[in-house]
Formats: sequence, C-alpha cells, structure tokens
Amino acid sequence: MNELGNKTLSVTEAIQSRRTIFNFKLEKPAREEIEEVLAFGIWAPNHRLTEPWRFTIIGEKKKLILAGRYREIQIEKVIEHANEQQQTSVGQKGYDKFMSKPVIVAVSYIKSGNNFEQREDYAATCCAIQNIQLAAWSHGIGMQWSTGPITREKETHTLIGINYEEEEIIGFLYTGYPAEIPKARRKLFSELFRVTA
Ligand SMILES: Cc1cc2nc3c(=O)[nH]c(=O)nc-3n(C[C@H](O)[C@H](O)[C@H](O)COP(=O)(O)O)c2cc1C
Repeated sequence: MNELGNKTLSVTEAIQSRRTIFNFKLEKPAREEIEEVLAFGIWAPNHRLTEPWRFTIIGEKKKLILAGRYREIQIEKVIEHANEQQQTSVGQKGYDKFMSKPVIVAVSYIKSGNNFEQREDYAATCCAIQNIQLAAWSHGIGMQWSTGPITREKETHTLIGINYEEEEIIGFLYTGYPAEIPKARRKLFSELFRVTA
C-alpha cells in the first residue's frame, strides 16, 4: 500500500507526494521487491549510454561493521566538547540509528573518461536514484538518500566490494516502510521561475 492508498500512483503523483523517510517500521521489504524497485534505475537517461550506475545491497554482516564505524564517526563529531559518558551515549545513538534502517543500498558510479564525462555519469546516476526513489514510493517503500561521511570513506567502498579508484559511492539509500512521513517543504515555483525574451 502506498502513500495515497492501495492504488497505482501516476508519475506526477509520485513526484509530488514522495518524501525523504527518516523513521522506518521494523518490517523489511522483501529482497525481490527491493530488486524490482532498483531495476527502475537503469532506465534513467545517460549520455553515450555508458550505464555508469551500480547498485549494492549491503548485507547484515557488513551493515554491523558499518554501524560500528557510524558510532565512531558520531563520537568524532563531539569528541572535543563531550565527556566520556556523553561520547558513549552519542555513539550508541548513532549505532542504533544506523541499525534502524531496514535495508541499505549503496548506489555508485563507474568513474571513466575525463572530468566532464564523469560529471555526466554522476548526473545520470543521480537520475537513476530518483527513478528508484519514485518507483519505491509507488510500492509504498520509503527512502532516505544519504551522503554522510560514512558513504565517502575509502574503507566503506572496500568493505562492500567497490574499487575506490574506479568507482564512487554517490549515496546510501536507507530503505523500508515509512513509520512517519515528514511534511513537504518547498518555495513557491513562481519564486523560482523566469522567462526571458
Ligand atoms: C544528493 C543528496 C544528498 C542527500 N543527503 C542527505 C543526507 O546526508 N542526510 C539527510 O538527512 N538527507 C539527505 N538528503 C535528502 C534531503 O534532506 C531531502 O531530499 C530534503 O530534505 C527534501 O525533502 P524531501 O526529499 O522529502 O522532499 C539528500 C538528498 C540529495 C538529493
């Protein structure tokens, strides 16, 4: 069941109603459904058909290791002004937060060609991510696209089998059934729109 009840969402309904989800229900979407939704990524536009995108579902063993690193990162952020007890508590909150994401998918792109070509492949993979977010939403699955420090570390790439020199993680998609849907926040389109002569 999706956001608008048990019916198919039109593309425009999905675009407008999709929200980034931070809090998930405990129940995990089935692996087949996650794969079905990820497969919509490959239909994104991409210049020269380089198909630069790669999708990695992070398994439970690697998730536990990453949660440990997430704990350390949260502690590193406060280490200068927090005492030991506060650091432990901040670290534990971070660990629990990471572990509360039912499924984690890393979306990466192959870095080939010159700078401009890499920018285009990065852009195409961002389009793939939005395809995936919209497809997921129409299945009643929510996502948070995250680019936190853990997604950028070389160790993260290596841990999940990505060659850091050749391929870069664009983000993690924290994935699951929404427990809470945040309110939409946007400027008015009329404030952002111009027509030139
Ligand atoms: C490239 C990119 C990176 C993002 N990284 C984060 C992130 O690290 N942490 C986070 O909370 N949200 C992240 N988001 C999600 C935005 O916070 C979210 O899209 C924004 O608040 C608007 O909310 P909406 O998606 O519900 O419209 C990211 C979104 C994009 C496109």
